[in-house]
Amino acid sequence: MHFLPALLLFLHLLAAAFWVGGMAVMHFAVRPSAVATLEPPLRLPFMAATLARFFVGVSCAIGVLLASGLLLVWASGGFAQVHWSVHAMFTLGLVMMALFLHLRFAPYPRLRRAVAASEWPAAAANLNLIRKLVGVNLMLGVAVFALAVVGRAL
Ligand code: HEM
Repeated sequence: MHFLPALLLFLHLLAAAFWVGGMAVMHFAVRPSAVATLEPPLRLPFMAATLARFFVGVSCAIGVLLASGLLLVWASGGFAQVHWSVHAMFTLGLVMMALFLHLRFAPYPRLRRAVAASEWPAAAANLNLIRKLVGVNLMLGVAVFALAVVGRAL
């Protein structure tokens, strides 16, 4: 493999690892620990602040994933030349990005507004919706990894 595609693949994998790994940490470690140790008036502002920082990273990761992925496709001669697993990766990747945009611009601003107004039940309901959407995206992310790596051999 030449240097440029290797560099693009490195950036692509770094961004995918950050996004999927970050969702796993939020889902399996941060939120359950916050539920176990903090009451709602502390837990909900804490989760809103944690998500604010994580979402900045996810937005960067999405930009890198899309740019590096599309450049890799272009370097391979276009979508007509690539393996079906890359088409599947692209499609599922777009679904993941759409879900992220939805949770980032619908339930997340509602969570922040509810936290600012100390409306804990409304904040908890929106955080719960975000948790479910992140869970779906985590499963999709694992499926994309499987498709990208194992799918290539099929
Ligand atoms: C949405 C736009 C995306 C495009 C256009 C894209 C495109 C590509 C391309 C062209 C490759 C190189 C394939 C090869 O050399 O066989 C690749 C590799 C890979 N992509 Fe993506 N990708 C996208 C999103 C994602 C996402 C969202 C993930 C994971 C969450 C992901 C994970 C991977 C992995 C793990 C590989 C390495 C496969 C290997 O070398 O064995 N990609 N991608």
